[in-house]
Amino acid sequence: MEKILITGANGQLGTELTISLCKKYGVENIIASDINLPKSTLPCQFIKLDVAQKADLERVIANAQITQVFHLAALLSAKGESDPQFTWDLNMSSLITILEAARKYQINKIFWPSSIAVFGRTTPKENTPQHTVTEPDTMYGITKLAGERLCEYYFKKYGIDVRSLRYPGLISNKTLPGGGTTDYAVDIFYQAIETGTYNCFLNRETFLPMMYMPDAIKATIDLMDAPKENIKIRSSYNIGAVSFSPEDLAKVIQKSIPDFTITYSPDFRQQIADSWPSNIDDSAAKKDWGWQPNFDLDKLSSDMLKNLKEKLSNSIF
Ligand code: SER
Repeated sequence: MEKILITGANGQLGTELTISLCKKYGVENIIASDINLPKSTLPCQFIKLDVAQKADLERVIANAQITQVFHLAALLSAKGESDPQFTWDLNMSSLITILEAARKYQINKIFWPSSIAVFGRTTPKENTPQHTVTEPDTMYGITKLAGERLCEYYFKKYGIDVRSLRYPGLISNKTLPGGGTTDYAVDIFYQAIETGTYNCFLNRETFLPMMYMPDAIKATIDLMDAPKENIKIRSSYNIGAVSFSPEDLAKVIQKSIPDFTITYSPDFRQQIADSWPSNIDDSAAKKDWGWQPNFDLDKLSSDMLKNLKEKLSNSIF
């Protein structure tokens, strides 16, 4: 039986992945962890854990006889720029601790998220290939690129079964993202419902790859369920779903909220967004383990609006 540790379980991805893994493996086999206490009660065990504390992380893995780790704890692109050195320390030291623990203890599989942030200005922007120039400009991107190299290294040198996805911007109606450059694509929905207007921190034509959370969860679980021999890429897989600009997203929201208006005040995040791809070639993920997204922009937008309207009206009363 698997015993699964999730780090960063309170985050945007972690919150929903924890629920899905509880359903799949049974609540008794899941340990969620985070540096902060969860905002609501979790179905499974929760441990307060700072992954930068190597000894604490290793102790949890050893004592709980962990067999799989979903290591999600990290600082994202925009927030990471406020303390680059800490971003490096947190993102890198925790990954290498877990990879080393996999050599010592009985961990048989690791999931570690990478990002479109591994790409940079010198990367082809359209249909960005799986194997291409990776010269990231942000500390977050640098840690994700170094992490990809570490994952492939530990697989080749020690046979550690570590699997990874280069997530695009993730959009969820449950948990807010924490300090990314793609966060506007979540904020805009809340503002559209609550105030009818949104001031976007990226300019109108900034195309970025994005994905609805149910697709991100499906990709993660499908990748982890795939037979070992199907996983041909041990750095991290490109995965795509939708690509749009703030202007495109505003137009789709206006189909449901016709009076919605958007203004643009680009800030420092514009430069980060400009260094990232517009859309991604994910043919390797499709071929190797059958990746296929379910949500296009229209479907994503109507599902977000429906769920957020319900959530926000419940939170008022
Ligand atoms: N959504 C992330 C960010 O904006 C990209 O991985 O930082």
